[in-house]
Amino acid sequence: MSSEPIAVAPRGALLTGLRPTGSLTLANVVGAVQPILRLQATAALPILLFVADLHALTDTEPQVVAQQAQSTVRDLIALGIDTTRVHVYVQSALTHEVNELAGILAREVRVSELMRQPSLKEKLKSGQQPENATAALLMYPVLMAADILLHRAARVPVGQDQLAHLELARLMARRFNADYGATLVEPQPLQEDALRILALRGDAKMSKSDPDTALLLSDTDAAIERKIATCQTAPEGESSPHLESHARLIEALDAASVSVLRRLLAAHRAGEKVMADFKRLFANVAKQFIGAVRARRIALTEGEVDAVLRAGTAFAQHSAAQTLDDVRAALGLRIVVSNALEVDL
Ligand code: TRP
Repeated sequence: MSSEPIAVAPRGALLTGLRPTGSLTLANVVGAVQPILRLQATAALPILLFVADLHALTDTEPQVVAQQAQSTVRDLIALGIDTTRVHVYVQSALTHEVNELAGILAREVRVSELMRQPSLKEKLKSGQQPENATAALLMYPVLMAADILLHRAARVPVGQDQLAHLELARLMARRFNADYGATLVEPQPLQEDALRILALRGDAKMSKSDPDTALLLSDTDAAIERKIATCQTAPEGESSPHLESHARLIEALDAASVSVLRRLLAAHRAGEKVMADFKRLFANVAKQFIGAVRARRIALTEGEVDAVLRAGTAFAQHSAAQTLDDVRAALGLRIVVSNALEVDL
């Protein structure tokens, strides 16, 4: 398949989605939300930011997902998303649009390619059998591709764990365009070297699925202190993936602490015993950041949140409708209503 630039850029957009997990982790914040905060003032492209509740349904009951979606929207606003520039919506408000496109994109990807997605392989490794995995799990990247291609997003800020999914979205866009003419935009990750933030301990990445080793926006100061007290660091004079990951997080959350951080790391490399100081800095930065978000979230009214979602959804539906019109036209898709009558979809 050719990787030549596609001669369509009807609009392009910057888009990312976050799974509603009840409370975002600081890894979510740094990987997906901060790039948008950095860009929202200057980006020429429209920015869409949505809560991926349909994706959450792959492994969570609908009632739980519905509650969590609301709270994730509040978190996003509290994190400082400028809702006059960023279109915030919940994915299920576009369920018909997303699923229509997912059905079309499913024709452009092989089962074997979906089986190779790292996130599925990881799940299968942790006990699930291929025969028992749901079709929803297999289709996860197709649904994600639909989210992205539906708005012709050109740039997608995601964490490193999502790069393989993004690659599949690019593949589906490329194949669709090759088969039916330049219609969709091939999305690029926003940062090739997306930050990988590790769990506080152990080999996994930081994730809500292990809340004891993750820092959550819902954490109290006491919880933050307790978790960081037992985080993995490195012996004097040595480095470790955990120490590096914690340092990246500190740097991303509080630019003002960088000089103190550098000094501590230099002392550590020189063999001094400074890991207690490092943890104190880490805890202070996390408490300050999470505390500020907590205060803003509490101050938000229901009416404010509703107004943000209404405006964001209207924008997203309009953008989706345009793409779907073009996709249907490219496919020449018509539905037969009766023996005698065909109508354009
Ligand atoms: N799969 C992403 C995650 O688990 C969430 C997501 C769904 C997403 N659709 C997306 C991210 C589209 C970026 C673009 O984090």
